Amino acid sequence: MKADVLLGLQWGDEGKGKIVDVLTPDYDVIARFQGGPNAGHTLEFNNQKYILRSIPSGVFQGGKVNIIGNGVVLDPLLFKQEAEALAASGHDIKKLLRISKKAHLILPTHRILDAAYEAAKGDGKIGTTGKGIGPAYTDKTSRNGVRIGDLLHNFDAVYKAAKARHEAILQSLGYTYNISELEAEWFEGAEYLKGFDLIDSEHVINNYLKEGKTILAEGAQGTMLDIDFGSYPFVTSSNTICAGCCTGLGVAPRNIGEVYGIFKAYCTRVGSGPFPTELFDETGDRLCDIGHEFGSVTGRRRRCGWIDLVALKYAVMINGVTRLIMMKSDVLDGFETIKACVAYDMDGQEVTDFPYTITDSVKPIYAELPGWQTDMTKMTDENEFPEEFNAYLSFLEEELGVPVKIVSVGSDRKQTVIRYKEEGIKVVLAEAQQP
Ligand code: GDP
Ligand code: IMO
Ligand code: MG
Repeated sequence: MKADVLLGLQWGDEGKGKIVDVLTPDYDVIARFQGGPNAGHTLEFNNQKYILRSIPSGVFQGGKVNIIGNGVVLDPLLFKQEAEALAASGHDIKKLLRISKKAHLILPTHRILDAAYEAAKGDGKIGTTGKGIGPAYTDKTSRNGVRIGDLLHNFDAVYKAAKARHEAILQSLGYTYNISELEAEWFEGAEYLKGFDLIDSEHVINNYLKEGKTILAEGAQGTMLDIDFGSYPFVTSSNTICAGCCTGLGVAPRNIGEVYGIFKAYCTRVGSGPFPTELFDETGDRLCDIGHEFGSVTGRRRRCGWIDLVALKYAVMINGVTRLIMMKSDVLDGFETIKACVAYDMDGQEVTDFPYTITDSVKPIYAELPGWQTDMTKMTDENEFPEEFNAYLSFLEEELGVPVKIVSVGSDRKQTVIRYKEEGIKVVLAEAQQP
C-alpha cells in the first residue's frame, strides 16, 4: 500500500483537522509527520468542538491507530493537558496512540527561547505561536536536540546539558525569566508521556504498509509556512510540504499515494509576513466575522483576504497535489462578487510564478466572478450546487489543474460534500457523514 497525505496549501488553518476526521473511516492509521503544538486542528461533531494540537485528528472515529511521527516536536506538558482534556470528554486515547521515540522534545527552555528571540526581533518579529517550535527544531538540526527516546535512558544528564546551553543563550540576550513552575509541570508531563506506547515508528509504519494497511498522513501548518518554500523568514521551522511526510514518518517517496491539498475558498494568515491579497477594508472584516477567523491556539485575529491562485498554484506544484479540498465556501455564500488573484503586478511586470520574495509593492491582479448568494450550509450533494458555485469550482480547477474532490460547507463533520463519488473517495466516507 501507499500512504496518502493531507496537507495545507495556504498559511495554515485551512481545515485539516475537520477533513482528516471525515476521511478517517477510509484508513487504518492516521499519522502526524511534522509540527507540534503550534498546530490547532478543530473538529466538530455531535455539537461538540475539539481542538487538537499534537494528537492526530483520527482519534474520534472507530478505534483507528494514531501515530505521532519522528518529524513532530512534542511538549510533554501540553501533550498531557491535551490528552487529559480528551479523556475528560470521554475520549481516552491511550490505547489508540503510538509515539515515535525519534520525535524531539520541546523543553521548557525552548519555549522561553522562543519568547526571547521574538522580543529581540522587535518590530521584525515572526509572530510565532510561542510554543518553542523554532528553538526545538534548531536544536534538532544543530545535533543538540533531545528526543523522546532519551526519556528512557540517562535523561537527567541530557536534559541538564541542554538546559545549561539554553540558559547561556538567554543570559547573553539579557532575557529574564522564571522557569521553576514550568519545569515542574514539564517533568510531570514527561512522566505521563513515558506511559504511552513509544515506538520505532518508521518500522511500524513500513510494516503497516507491507501488510496492506491504509495510512493517512496529516500535515500541520501550510505550504506557505514551509521552512524552504514558504514566505521565509516568516515561516515555521519544519517542512510542511509532502516531502515532510517522507522525512517525518520514514515513508519512501515511491510509497506516497494520493496527495490531498486543502485550501479555504478565500485566504487567511496569522502572524507576521507578506500576504498579497490581504484586505484591510470592510470585506476583510466581513470574511473574518463570518469565518470566525481567530486562531484556535493563540486566539489571535487572523488576517483575511481573497484567494491567491499564484501562491496556490505554487503549492500544488511543490506538493504534487492529486486531489483538492475546498473549505469554508459557506463564508462566501452572501457575497455578490468573488475575487481571485490570478497574477501579481510587480513593478509593472505581470508575474504568475510565485516569486523569490514578496514586497509591499506587489499588487494582486484579480479575476472577478459572480457570487452564488445561496445558503449552501445544508447541502449534501453536488447536484444541489448553484450554477455560479459550479462556475467558481470549474474556474479553480482550470487554474490549478487538479479536481476539487471535496467541498466543505460548514464546520460540522456532516457539512461535507464529496464530488465525483464514482471515481472513488470510498463509500465509507458517505457513512462517516451519517448522524
Ligand atoms: P486546521 O488547523 O487546518 O485544522 O484548521 P483550524 O481548525 O485551525 O481552522 C479552521 C476553522 O474553520 C475551525 O474553526 C473549523 O471549525 C472551521 N471550519 C472548518 N471547515 C469549515 C467550513 O467549511 N465552514 C466553516 N464556516 N467553518 C469551517
Ligand atoms: P495549523 O496546523 C496557522 C504560524 C505562526 C507564525 C509562524 C511561525 O493549525 O494550520 P511557529 O510557532 O511555528 O514558530 O510560528 O507560523 N503558524 C501557524 N499559522 N496555523 C498553524 O498551524 C500555524 N503554526 C504556526 O502564526 O506566523
Ligand atoms: Mg489551525
